[in-house]
Amino acid sequence: MSDYDVIIIGSGPGGYVCAIKCAQLGLKTACVEGSETLGGTCLNVGCIPSKALLHATHQLYEAQHNFSLMGLIAEPPKVDLQKMMEYKGKVVEQNTKGLEFLFKKNKIDWIKGWATIVSNTEVQVGGKTYPTKNIVLASGSTPSSLPNVKIDENIIVSSTGALSPKKIPEKLIIIGAGVIGLELGSVYARLGSQVKVIEFSKTIVPSLDSDLQIHLKRILTKQGISFELNSAVQSVKISKNKANVKYLKTQEKTQHSDEADMVLVATGRSAYTEGLGLTNLNIEFTKNKKILTNEFWKTTSDGVYAIGDAIEGPMLAHKAEDEGIAVAEIISGKLGHVNYLTIPSVIYTHPEVATVGQTEDDLKAKGVTYKIGKFNFAGNGRAKAIFASEGFVKILANADTDRILGAHIIGPMAGDLIHEICVAMEFGASAEDLARTCHAHPTVSEAVREAALACGSGAIHA
Ligand code: NAI
Repeated sequence: MSDYDVIIIGSGPGGYVCAIKCAQLGLKTACVEGSETLGGTCLNVGCIPSKALLHATHQLYEAQHNFSLMGLIAEPPKVDLQKMMEYKGKVVEQNTKGLEFLFKKNKIDWIKGWATIVSNTEVQVGGKTYPTKNIVLASGSTPSSLPNVKIDENIIVSSTGALSPKKIPEKLIIIGAGVIGLELGSVYARLGSQVKVIEFSKTIVPSLDSDLQIHLKRILTKQGISFELNSAVQSVKISKNKANVKYLKTQEKTQHSDEADMVLVATGRSAYTEGLGLTNLNIEFTKNKKILTNEFWKTTSDGVYAIGDAIEGPMLAHKAEDEGIAVAEIISGKLGHVNYLTIPSVIYTHPEVATVGQTEDDLKAKGVTYKIGKFNFAGNGRAKAIFASEGFVKILANADTDRILGAHIIGPMAGDLIHEICVAMEFGASAEDLARTCHAHPTVSEAVREAALACGSGAIHA
């Protein structure tokens, strides 16, 4: 007889949420985690610590730039890096300990150690075999590097090393203008580093709506970050405590080099699948070396499911969470579903960037006729009061039916504002539905309503 109904491998946002939902649905559940704390990359060396550093350095920016404008006179602020790291550590600890509490509350066994799957009904940890009816692979991802770049987490760092610097580098070169590059680039620029981002593509964050790409690049440049686009980094070598970066400008076909005190490699992440014993099962992989699953997150091995960064789709904590809940429901005999069209995506720069649904380029490529409702935060009273009037809300709606197809926001609290549009899209709302919904004044959310109004007869404050 099986000891467990389900064993989940990995305790990141996919794994731990899946474990809690399985337990809530009455399944005998265990979660295997080899790290000292629960929470995976997100809680320990990803989303949570980076948001702590983004918050701390944003306060520094406010004190340096906006305090005096509001009549707040203070000593020029200084940075105590060790204290900042302690604050970040405490935030992480509160979250990981909170998770331990939730595991106990929901009677989930934390099997400590690294799992090897022996068969589709047996998981081995530390020489002990645990029988189970189902297995969920939630093993996540690890930073991927470049062929001629060896990460030492001191001078050449991944996001993990960049979150725990020993000192603030005078000059930082970031390889990759993706989400990690821009968020951590913002942290270091605010701390006073000279930040240069080298990006292979012709734009920053290639997946973003092009309006947002242009606007975000302009704002980050004003904040002191410089960009080398159309540039492929070919090697990074350390000499005398400096890193020398060689890169090719792909249009001119010219070789360049530059030197920095620290180099952050932010060129994407790879699914973590090595050493799990997947070769003992009949597991197949996609061409991106991710675990192949069907629409019910079943792998090619019976009773083995996979979710999160280890499978196809955007590498986002909340996408993994939703898949974790859906799989728990499926294992307990219910329906499980994820609507991938309404998964938001947020970049926590200042201002924030948030998107959901389709971009203009997507709609053009599909030949969908659409209309655009756009509203600048410059017309929003609350945004002006908090020095956050840069940016806009852009809503894309079907030209014939008015149904909302996507939304793209750059501006204050964009990461929170996006959710009313996610909900509207889940309910198949039209732009007029949103425009007719009363929004409290004065809030930055009025800009969302104004953009919806702009899809119809026009915004009021434009
Ligand atoms: P990314 O895939 O977002 O960006 C990597 C960038 O590196 C790309 O723009 C690519 O063109 C560039 N690149 C690759 N090779 C290069 C080379 N040789 N020279 C110059 N540029 C090169 O990857 P990133 O930023 O490392 O993030 C990893 C994952 O983590 C992403 O899927 C991201 O969505 C996720 N993430 C999400 C966050 C959020 O939701 N706020 C925060 C942090 C990470």
